[in-house]
Amino acid sequence: MTEIMQEIKTTHKIIIGDSRRMEELEDESVHLMVTSPPYPMIEIWDDLFRRLDERINKAWEKMEAEANKEKREKLVREIYELMHENLAEVWKETYRVLVDGGIACINIGDATRSFNGIFRLFPNHSKVIEHCEKIGFITLPYILWKKPTNKPKYKGKGAFLGSGMLPPNAYVTLDCEYILIFRKGEPRKFKPNDKLRYASRYTKEERDSWFTQIWDIVGTKQTLPEVERRVAAFPEEIPYKLIRMFSIIGDTVLDPFLGTGTTMKVAINLNRNSIGYEIDEKLLPVIKEKAGITQKRLFSDYSFEIIVRSK
Ligand SMILES: C[S@@+](CC[C@H](N)C(=O)[O-])C[C@H]1O[C@@H](n2cnc3c(N)ncnc32)[C@H](O)[C@@H]1O
Repeated sequence: MTEIMQEIKTTHKIIIGDSRRMEELEDESVHLMVTSPPYPMIEIWDDLFRRLDERINKAWEKMEAEANKEKREKLVREIYELMHENLAEVWKETYRVLVDGGIACINIGDATRSFNGIFRLFPNHSKVIEHCEKIGFITLPYILWKKPTNKPKYKGKGAFLGSGMLPPNAYVTLDCEYILIFRKGEPRKFKPNDKLRYASRYTKEERDSWFTQIWDIVGTKQTLPEVERRVAAFPEEIPYKLIRMFSIIGDTVLDPFLGTGTTMKVAINLNRNSIGYEIDEKLLPVIKEKAGITQKRLFSDYSFEIIVRSK
């Protein structure tokens, strides 16, 4: 550990509340956002979106009761749009709280699903890009996270969807998720020889492997496997690389969809300040455990604040 790291005191804030409003945060107070939201049209998140927005719930009920195929189709599209509008509220708040030159990294996967008996793709990554550009973000080249576990099974039989070896009705599998990268305004400026910036440097080998478009991340080291699977936690390697690539020691990192607290854990270890929002209060003990709030650490000094918003 470098001397500078021992001098740095970091603070960490867990807010149990809805990140569509981040009223606890001042404008331009965050340097980097790293997150993975609930993915629209992935079944495990249906209920959450329906609870978040009554319009989604109503449209869903209508869709299920609708006999006319065309009208049902329209409702499916409306639901998909509304789910992304809800996520966009968070992207808008992120834009407000980021400093000029601050970066937002959004891990998102596309979804495949059948409605009306028709199998189709919901290209979540392109919707997020569309919304973020409307908000004012500058889109930067993104990363494809190649996941070995993403091959869907069709009727329990294997990875490829369709009709054996007969063209033309089979489907390509989804093997990658996206790590979208956006910036607010122009790149950040630093004084020449900025001590913290230099202490945050990566090696040439790290640069050569991190700043490439395809990340092949295989082993996902899970500390709390059951809950991590339930909330679709990302492996620590993802926030680790992103935080080292796009922030410096002493910066503030935000995760508006904190889940089990992976981003916060990594931010603590990398001597960044952090803020995390999580709507599900039941995850608070999990976040505390993962972030090591109860443990005393030998070298670095950090403090915590937990805010539970009244409903
Ligand atoms: C995909 S999980 C994040 C997993 C996280 N990256 C991890 O490693 O554990 C998304 C999380 O966002 C939370 N969430 C969804 N909508 C939210 C909102 N509007 N405000 C705050 N948290 C929200 C969900 O409860 C869920 O825990």
